[in-house]
Amino acid sequence: MSSGEAITSVLQEDRSFPPAAEFSEQANIKPDEYQQMWDRANEDSAGFWGDLANENLHWHQPFETVMEGDMPDTKWFLGGKINASYNCIDRHLDSWRKNKAAIIWEGEPGDTRVLRYQDLHREVCKFSNVLKQLGVEPGDRVTLYMPMIPELAIAMLACARIGATHSIIFGGFSADAVAERNNDAQSKLVVTADAGWRRGKELPLKPAVDESLEKSPSVEKVVVVRRTGADVNMVPDRDFWWHDLMEDASADCDAVELDAEHPLFILYTSGSTGKPKGVLHTTGGYMLGTTMTSKWVFDLKEDDTYWCTADIGWVTGHSYIIYGPLSNGATTIMYEGAPNWPDEGRFWEIVEKYKVNIFYTAPTAIRAFIKWGEEWPSKYDLSTLRLLGTVGEPINPEAWMWYHRVIGQEACPIVDTWWQTETGGIMMSPLPGVTATKPGSCTKPLPGVVPDIVTKDGTSLPDNSGGLLVMRKPWPHMLRTLYGDHQRFLDTYFSEIEGCYFAGDGARRDEDGYYWIMGRVDDVLNVSGHRLSTMEVESALVAHEQVAEAAVVGFPHDLKGEGICCFVTLTSGAGSEDLKQELIGHVRKQIGAIASPDQIRFAAAVPKTRSGKIMRRLLRDIAAGREQVGDTTTLEDYTVLASLRESDEG
Ligand code: WTA
Repeated sequence: MSSGEAITSVLQEDRSFPPAAEFSEQANIKPDEYQQMWDRANEDSAGFWGDLANENLHWHQPFETVMEGDMPDTKWFLGGKINASYNCIDRHLDSWRKNKAAIIWEGEPGDTRVLRYQDLHREVCKFSNVLKQLGVEPGDRVTLYMPMIPELAIAMLACARIGATHSIIFGGFSADAVAERNNDAQSKLVVTADAGWRRGKELPLKPAVDESLEKSPSVEKVVVVRRTGADVNMVPDRDFWWHDLMEDASADCDAVELDAEHPLFILYTSGSTGKPKGVLHTTGGYMLGTTMTSKWVFDLKEDDTYWCTADIGWVTGHSYIIYGPLSNGATTIMYEGAPNWPDEGRFWEIVEKYKVNIFYTAPTAIRAFIKWGEEWPSKYDLSTLRLLGTVGEPINPEAWMWYHRVIGQEACPIVDTWWQTETGGIMMSPLPGVTATKPGSCTKPLPGVVPDIVTKDGTSLPDNSGGLLVMRKPWPHMLRTLYGDHQRFLDTYFSEIEGCYFAGDGARRDEDGYYWIMGRVDDVLNVSGHRLSTMEVESALVAHEQVAEAAVVGFPHDLKGEGICCFVTLTSGAGSEDLKQELIGHVRKQIGAIASPDQIRFAAAVPKTRSGKIMRRLLRDIAAGREQVGDTTTLEDYTVLASLRESDEG
């Protein structure tokens, strides 16, 4: 986008769905409260957040200062001592909740496990002692590279309990990606499993850890959960079985009283340039954000069964399977496997089986449900559902309507929640008892959140002009830094627009103050709701000996939202189908299956502007089929197209 220019928005959507009176009456936030909360937050940010923190979190020692300093370096709840694990578990043990289900887990093969709050407490205390025994100390980093099994939740909360900072790596990442993240975080210990289940097959994890450790020497020890029974190689004195260590561990372990700004976790996410960014969240602010947003947006009630289908390897799983729901004393479901195993009805079978009330998923999943057909959900009783949510990418209004009609049976509010790994928790979303929803809009900011739509020079744009989405005020659950690279943190989020946090998204605000997200404006792809950098895929490709140059762009994809298209020029020789397959395999090895290219196109040259910038807009048009080129496109053809477009791309 050239500077100062507004983005043209083409989406026109006039349907609106006000909350039903019965929902509003029982909602955690009632219609008249929303405006009051918003005004209070506006007039007295510190008072607003400070009161919430006192009322909704357990502090071992009360904080003295709610917030100190402006963005980018705002500190929250200084002087306060807090522990996330205590807030998620211990504080529920003095009440009847000790026997309430904290986590209902369903394995892909159909095995199940229920951890009541007191069971979770026991397991977390034991694993905390295991971590200590293996030499983990407060401030140390621990990598968790695990399937969606209860041990992952236990390991997270154990790290939090002793003040170790967890870095969870999604199980779909490759050994190289694990090594890169281990090195960046200087992790001391890795917790993994032999393998996990995915569509009836074993997805090996331990072998990837073994390979990663050849390149990440900071890791001293590995704990391995036996999940599938796959054969693994155990290195003496380095590798230990979870069940062996847990057998003798004591179930007594006090939660360490940590500073509010103590690092809780690092989560790597893609940026437009360079290596993955280690987004760092701290304890007090993050816990407040996830606790409040879970209560407000998901309207959590004591007797709800709540299910967020995300993987804990992504931020959605951190905030809305574990920290937010457990801090509220809720019952959260955790499902290990794929939505279409053993058949396309699996999710709905789980909804029926556990009488799920609140269901939170991603637009990419909804598009898959639509494709599989209404016959799957219609086989099951979905009448317990009372609230639906989505996250990860803009939801197209038709998918929204399908979700509303088929899954919600026209009776459930839909909360379309906009947020990011960096924001820690939901920033913009309907409040289900308050906000009239419009399909495709994440509606309005939550109380305390102050977004704006601006041009590149920071000027606010009027209603209905597309521009850059920024936050004008700090919030407690915002990232504090990029691990080990504070300068990159400043450059990425705070240098683009003076005085604001820049989210990297384009958006528009309509005449009712509703926000419509238009997608990323940087070189970040959103594939199945997961952020991937074009740069990372390009560097993976050029690491292959036959690749001279690569340019990667996204294109519209029915299921994934965006597919990955790679333009590749070779060092010598011609491209072949075999080489395509080899390059796809190569990217999967370097980054992981989530980055698997959908198209590889061999090109004699990558079109560039006179200043040497890859002409991505042209490539995006070609990838999407909007600009016709043949399979045998020559350097000359690209040069012609490129020069035709040059003036456009600037
Ligand atoms: C996109 C996921 C439209 C957006 C929690 C953002 C959305 C990126 C929505 C963050 C939504 C997320 N509507 N777009 N409701 N939610 N996005 O860090 O582009 O994996 O910047 O966090 O996803 O992705 P991330």
